[in-house]
Amino acid sequence: MGKDVIIACDFKSGRETLDFLSKFGGERPFVKIGMELFYAEGPAIVRALKERGHKIFLDLKLHDIPNTVKKSMAVLSGLDVDMVNLHAGGGTEMMRAALEGLTRPDGTRPYLIAVTILTSISEEILKEELGVSGALQETVMRYAKNAKAAGLDGVVCSPREAGAVHGACGESFLTVTPGVRFADGEVGDQKRVMTPSEAKKVGSDYIVVGRPITASADPVAAYRRCVREFVDQMGE
Ligand code: C5P
Repeated sequence: MGKDVIIACDFKSGRETLDFLSKFGGERPFVKIGMELFYAEGPAIVRALKERGHKIFLDLKLHDIPNTVKKSMAVLSGLDVDMVNLHAGGGTEMMRAALEGLTRPDGTRPYLIAVTILTSISEEILKEELGVSGALQETVMRYAKNAKAAGLDGVVCSPREAGAVHGACGESFLTVTPGVRFADGEVGDQKRVMTPSEAKKVGSDYIVVGRPITASADPVAAYRRCVREFVDQMGE
């Protein structure tokens, strides 16, 4: 388990994705397939990348009644992906049902990770619009603990929350963290960012990196830099 760089393949077609990954030659990075690419290409893109030897985080953020999520997770598990996710807001019964659906007949299953509160939700939206009375950070931690109690493997969170999540849910509970930027890079629309080496220091288990790699003039060099900073560097 753990300590790897996941490239967010936020492309609109399979062609673009395969062209991008062909730059890596024989190297097979861990990749994230999100809704845009999956809805455009369907399971075929997952099979194509799996056949090429990539590990896959299928980022579809399921959220529905337990029975529907359970049956859908069984389909995703059959695609042999390595990591999938759902919204912790669906409740613990839904999360438990998802785990059941994911578990293959031989007892193996992909990692199941919960999204707590989307980073696009502010404290104000949470209170005024959604009527949630607790503070945002408290709600994030409550959802993380629910995910842990339901038997999930971890959460997607900001690297800034990784330490608190590990403190509350244990060191082996995975923190999968987007919002990563190089010290000398552009931040874009991400508000609260960390560099790969900072993310390593605070204990992130996986970093999800999109544009700093995909929009780079040299994506392979950018990926290697992430790996060097996040995986290889001995802790200083
Ligand atoms: O390009 P960038 O590095 O910002 O991409 C980050 C990836 O992580 C995107 O696929 C984005 O949707 C995803 N993500 C995020 N923040 C979250 C959850 C997911 O940036 N809270």
